[in-house]
Amino acid sequence: MKVFKIILSSVLVSFLLMNCGKGKNESTKANSESVLDQNVVKIKRVLKSLDSADRFARNIPKGQQHWKTVGVKDWCSGFWPGVLWYAYEHSGNDSIKKAAEKFTAPIKTIAFSPAEDHDIGFMVYCSYGNGYRLTGNEAYKEVMLAAADTLATLYNPIVGAIQSWPSKKNKYPHNTIIDNMMNLELLFWASKNGGDKSLYDLAKRHAEVTMKHIVRPDSAVYHLGEFNDKTGAFIKGHTHQGYADESMWARGQTWGIYGFAVAYRETGEQAFLDTSIKLADHFLNRLPEDGIPFWDFDDPRIPNAPKDASAAAIAACGMFEIANIISDEKLKAKYNNAAKKFVEILSSDTYLSGKANDALLLHSTGHHPKGSEIDVPIIYADYYFMEALLRLEKLEASTSNIGKSH
Ligand code: GLY
Repeated sequence: MKVFKIILSSVLVSFLLMNCGKGKNESTKANSESVLDQNVVKIKRVLKSLDSADRFARNIPKGQQHWKTVGVKDWCSGFWPGVLWYAYEHSGNDSIKKAAEKFTAPIKTIAFSPAEDHDIGFMVYCSYGNGYRLTGNEAYKEVMLAAADTLATLYNPIVGAIQSWPSKKNKYPHNTIIDNMMNLELLFWASKNGGDKSLYDLAKRHAEVTMKHIVRPDSAVYHLGEFNDKTGAFIKGHTHQGYADESMWARGQTWGIYGFAVAYRETGEQAFLDTSIKLADHFLNRLPEDGIPFWDFDDPRIPNAPKDASAAAIAACGMFEIANIISDEKLKAKYNNAAKKFVEILSSDTYLSGKANDALLLHSTGHHPKGSEIDVPIIYADYYFMEALLRLEKLEASTSNIGKSH
């Protein structure tokens, strides 16, 4: 482990040195190894003040230092235990593992209660999913299988897609949002791990319908697709958290990049990979000079609009995923480099929160049209940042091991 860490650090330092001299962020570059170490120290410290297992970190309001927490039913409840599982993955620290188990446990109720919305995937896969991956705890597997069945109850076979927000039925009788692509991983996983095989077909069909109607010809995505729930006909694309129906809401684009990459990994359908790449290229082509997206690429106030660090972190994970599943070496390098760049910028003083507050990252935007969570730390930014750092750590380790077996 120690040797692995030293090799990883030197590869990263070389990478960072090769890219230095390009602006303010570069003088504060750190490698993923030391950023992960720092993050783990901070997470351990923050755990001391977050002691109630049924309250989950969600955001840090402006001017405050500590996490504002939410209950288990909040769509973000799984991210805090997910952060803890990633911190455990990096550190192997037993007290963090115990905390991860403690915060994962209450989420069980989501799997066994009637489905309130599509976020079951985020809640259960980020908590139980990571816990099962790292521990093999069979009890976790049972919860995940139940959660997949619960999520599937929202599927409308006429539309061929999951209803994302049943509570908005009055406004949009059937609505499917781009974020929902991220919840398919739970269904694909369940279909391979003892769950009903039909979960695979359902998830694949959902991805096809999303690709056909929610991905736009301009290579951006709608946030929400409205469908006729009786005929399945697509009615209209809307925004919900973006600037306008036809604008490019940054985080929505990244849910699409990542979600379609996973759909390709699980099905081998080339069109899903093509879609993920199309969305990724459009996102990369439209990035501002400093490499981190504004909350919506079409906010007319740009450059005086808030950023969304969470979108950069999700984009990094999505692009690492593309690079993992693609065979063309040039494209593999392209998306790995793009993803590394996001991690590098997020690891600079501009985005790391340091001593300012209990989060890992500053500058995310949750729901701008509602005036909520604007330019603040949000838990899912930290979750995907940890994931991206771990992905980078593994990538560099595998690169440095090439040829060693010969
Ligand atoms: N899934 C809701 C959001 O991305 O804000």
